[in-house]
Amino acid sequence: MLSYQHAYHAGSLTDLHKHACLVALLEALSKRHPKLHYLETHAGRALYDLTGPEARKTREAEVGTLALQRLPQLDPALARYAQLSADPKRYPGSPALACALLGKAARITLAELHPQEAKALAVWAKGDARVQVQRQDGYAAVASQLSSAPSLILIDPSYEIKSEYIFAADQALALVGAHPSCTLALWYPLLHDGRERALEETIRASGSPSLQTLLRFPPLEHKQGFRGTQGSGLILLGAHLGLVRKPLSASVKAIASAFASQRPMTATTTWLVKPAPLV
Ligand SMILES: C[S@@+](CC[C@H](N)C(=O)[O-])C[C@H]1O[C@@H](n2cnc3c(N)ncnc32)[C@H](O)[C@@H]1O
Repeated sequence: MLSYQHAYHAGSLTDLHKHACLVALLEALSKRHPKLHYLETHAGRALYDLTGPEARKTREAEVGTLALQRLPQLDPALARYAQLSADPKRYPGSPALACALLGKAARITLAELHPQEAKALAVWAKGDARVQVQRQDGYAAVASQLSSAPSLILIDPSYEIKSEYIFAADQALALVGAHPSCTLALWYPLLHDGRERALEETIRASGSPSLQTLLRFPPLEHKQGFRGTQGSGLILLGAHLGLVRKPLSASVKAIASAFASQRPMTATTTWLVKPAPLV
């Protein structure tokens, strides 16, 4: 099933959370590993026009990244994200953030299954020798490209079917189990019916060390686009969780405090499964 199109949701509050966290992850990990391999299972088309008909229909960007851009002063932890997403006609999706923040020695592998989105992604990536676009199932693409080199994986599915919550968690655990040197970020929405708990439980039950950042906000007034979304979650698995904990926490707190006067939000960054202490 490929009916989801990210153009309707680009720049939303959930995108803001995911993309601000991704900026923090890319900055922290590329400083440590300039040759970082960045891989995405569900890449989308890389650039989005927030003034276009899709974004105007749902108005999700209006209360997300466009609202952030109107705020007078931002915490330094959000400044880089805000700078990179300042042009509403070219809102950077996750592949564009990776290309902007990673250096010449990095490798970037992007999988996208939707023919139209994959075509737009390939056109956008043309000429960047670091990037390889794969039009195939993202889990298979990443599993075949992953090695023991330092890497960051983003899993960002569209969750069109209920079973995808457990499926995504199982896939994430399998990738980290096979390649413990990678850092993996798994994004998911927090919904009114709490169906995301199946994903969280699957990770918790595995006992695999995992860090969770959550941004919770009240359901939005114009429900058409949001369908009961009440927040955004990101779970980190694998290597370097200690290294990324502080920058992630700073970014998520900065979002909540930036919006404090217009929309109450709760930002948390906690261990879902705490790593064993070093002996
Ligand atoms: C949430 S969007 C990705 C947004 C993007 N990661 C970003 O943050 O800019 C999910 C994308 O996954 C694609 N998709 C759905 N199933 C897929 C699969 N099995 N493999 C690869 N891509 C898939 C959809 O076409 C859609 O473009």
